[in-house]
Amino acid sequence: MRTLALPFVISLLLVACGEQTAAAKAPADTQQTLPDFAPLPADVEVTLATPLVPGVPGSPGHLIKSSRNPNGDSELAYLMRLFVDDLRDARVKVDAGEPLPKLYDRHRRMRAAWPSKADQRNERFDTMAVGYLGAVRAFEADATPANYNNIITACIACHSGACGGPIEFIDSMKWQ
Ligand code: HEC
Repeated sequence: MRTLALPFVISLLLVACGEQTAAAKAPADTQQTLPDFAPLPADVEVTLATPLVPGVPGSPGHLIKSSRNPNGDSELAYLMRLFVDDLRDARVKVDAGEPLPKLYDRHRRMRAAWPSKADQRNERFDTMAVGYLGAVRAFEADATPANYNNIITACIACHSGACGGPIEFIDSMKWQ
């Protein structure tokens, strides 16, 4: 079975990392339209030193509200769920022999995304993010199941210190 029961799975994720209790009770809504982020300049590396931009979707006071999470999601939490969708989609495409969608370009935003709590964006997070993005690039260069699973391992490496809630789910994303 290649397609997971997405609404069910997403509702499991909401034990995540913040004050998400209300969200955990909200019905899953996969039909919602969510904001597209402005593209990052291609020639500039996003790092821990990149200042966060006040007022963008997912910043404090501008959380991304949805029926799934009426309290609103931070930019980083929103990105994380985008990662889940992107990776699932990539795997389906690889299986079908179709070209891989661009991942790195979207995912590198994580190094300069507003988290739910300001102190979540720290040295450790950034080091782990660099490792994660390296795994994403390796998979883009050579889309094998092993390289895919290295991405998942990098998700878990960061989560095992920063945000343990979704680990079991992330582990279930492995390419068996
Ligand atoms: C560099 C560290 C790091 C990496 C790598 C990482 N995460 Fe996260 N993740 C976080 C942090 C921190 C949060 C909490 C974000 C927030 O609440 O603003 C989070 C939140 C989440 C959430 C909960 C989102 C929500 O609804 O609140 C999920 C699901 C998730 N990550 C999945 C993944 C997956 C899948 C990967 C790999 C494809 C991944 N993460 C890679 C740090 C990371």
